[in-house]
Amino acid sequence: MSTPVLTAVAWPYANGPRHIGHVSGFGVPSDVFSRYQRMAGNRVLMVSGTDEHGTPITVQADKEGMTPQQTADKYTRQIDEDLQGLGLSYDLFTRTTTGNHAAVTQEIFLALNRNGYVVPKTTRGAISPSTGRTLPDRYIEGTCPICGYDGARGDQCDNCGNQLDAAELINPKSRINGETPKFVETEHYFLDLPAFTQTLGDWLGTKTDWRPNVLNFTKNLIDDMRPRPITRDLDWGVKIPLEGWRDQPLKRFYVWFDAVIGYFSASVEWARRNGTPDAWQEWWANADARAYYFMGKDNITFHAQIWPALLLGQNGDGDHGGEPGKYGKLHLPDEIVSSEFLTMSGSKFSTSRGTVIYVHDFLREFGPDALRYFISVAGPETQDTDFTWDEFVRRTNFELANEWGNLVNRSISMAHKNNGAIPAPTEPAPADEELKALSRQAFETAGGHLARSRFKLAAAEAMRVVTAANRYLSDQEPWKLKDDPDRRDAVLHTALQVVSDANTLLTPFLPHSAQKVHEALGGTGVWAAQPELQEVEDLDLPDRVNPILTGDYQSEQAKWESKPVEVGRPLEKPTPLFTKLDPKLGETGPEWAPIVTD
Ligand code: MF3
Ligand code: ZN
Repeated sequence: MSTPVLTAVAWPYANGPRHIGHVSGFGVPSDVFSRYQRMAGNRVLMVSGTDEHGTPITVQADKEGMTPQQTADKYTRQIDEDLQGLGLSYDLFTRTTTGNHAAVTQEIFLALNRNGYVVPKTTRGAISPSTGRTLPDRYIEGTCPICGYDGARGDQCDNCGNQLDAAELINPKSRINGETPKFVETEHYFLDLPAFTQTLGDWLGTKTDWRPNVLNFTKNLIDDMRPRPITRDLDWGVKIPLEGWRDQPLKRFYVWFDAVIGYFSASVEWARRNGTPDAWQEWWANADARAYYFMGKDNITFHAQIWPALLLGQNGDGDHGGEPGKYGKLHLPDEIVSSEFLTMSGSKFSTSRGTVIYVHDFLREFGPDALRYFISVAGPETQDTDFTWDEFVRRTNFELANEWGNLVNRSISMAHKNNGAIPAPTEPAPADEELKALSRQAFETAGGHLARSRFKLAAAEAMRVVTAANRYLSDQEPWKLKDDPDRRDAVLHTALQVVSDANTLLTPFLPHSAQKVHEALGGTGVWAAQPELQEVEDLDLPDRVNPILTGDYQSEQAKWESKPVEVGRPLEKPTPLFTKLDPKLGETGPEWAPIVTD
């Protein structure tokens, strides 16, 4: 049975290149998951894009002396290149500055407004005493009133993950010039979160198998819900489509309001681009679909509380009732898959504090699969995890090069040398059957883990097959079977079958090398498809061209099953799959991200 699976991946801000902490949160996990789901025969729609509005972008634009649009244009391209380089198989990776996104965001807002879930209120906003300009929350820094962390921002505390109101910060200071902001009255739209206490609680009550970190965090959020502003005094963002608001130069939607709607707007854009404008309904208007959201833990609030509330409100399903908006009832998240933080020597990866390892540099030097593997087996899946070069070298050299690369290499080399092709199995011995049974069984076990985003367990299961196959070769010693070619053929046939199985099991993690192993086993065509970067015209805004990521994943051959290898298929002499890293790298780090000891 084929299930429509929506993989909704957090939208990176277009305010700088991505570091490996970012992609270990939203990027690699969502791609491993999607690749598995496609292999298992499900209909995947994987969408995201760059998050280009709000102060994250205006702050960077000010720094670079550019307009927000120029800054977004610059970084959306760089981010596309990074994500493409990593092989993240988006059906559509777009951006929030498209005409389509603004129109969909406004429709959702209008439905919320008609149903009474948003209300205008007068509130206190900060202005800079020296310039008289409004000072958005994110420009303000101070002590978190909840956890006491010193570097909390006016919108959010990165330490405890709570949403904040700049006026609540203890000892607030402008991040621009250090002055104390002045708070004045201003009007904003608020989302009536308390009107969803019941329905959000009921919805959450059905979610029993989420990762405990996400479930506990969300339960706490829902216990205390207050109205939240969804507009800002800012000149960069989606405009508010109401009389008296539309033309105000300083009123825009809050960046998080439009960003989460991006999951839906990108699905609509994907459908429109394919010439099937209603095709998004398979994922959004279908109770049998499954929607999985991937992110770092600082995003949980918006995905597990705000986004479901927006959907409930536009569906007409909160305390005020109402009618669904233009798109009908939309599917709520089924699972929020959140990673913890990847740290480096104790400090959170952040461009402002601590050391940064950019994806771009990493890919250039080590290629995509070593990073994908590292994140999958040693990343921050359920707890904060420190990245060390030492561990990276160890995983790459011992697991990828010695264990997996070596198994592939010696199995294919021996068969190439002795047979020039995949040998026929003669009478199989119990050890052969045992190994093949182990690898067949791994599909069920690892598949179960992948379906639940238990990436470490799934990768460990695949690697268990690799280790067993290496042990099998050491035990059977096919290199000593010169005088018993029949037995040697049986051993090599078994080894190649298990190489093929292990390659399938590892494909979601290592799609680039999986393609190579597929070819080394004599296969042709696309085993694991990769995303493409395209320049396309905006569907609604004249004269605008947007870079996007998309791909044709229908043509790929990888299926989640043990596929019998074809006897007689010619084999070439294989080339090494992974190059070993100099162990010194573990002590020094690379030149572009040296280990600093103090
Ligand atoms: N840009 C946000 C961040 O980097 C994530 C936005 S995810 C979405 O933290 F839900 F808004 F799309
Ligand atoms: Zn805090």
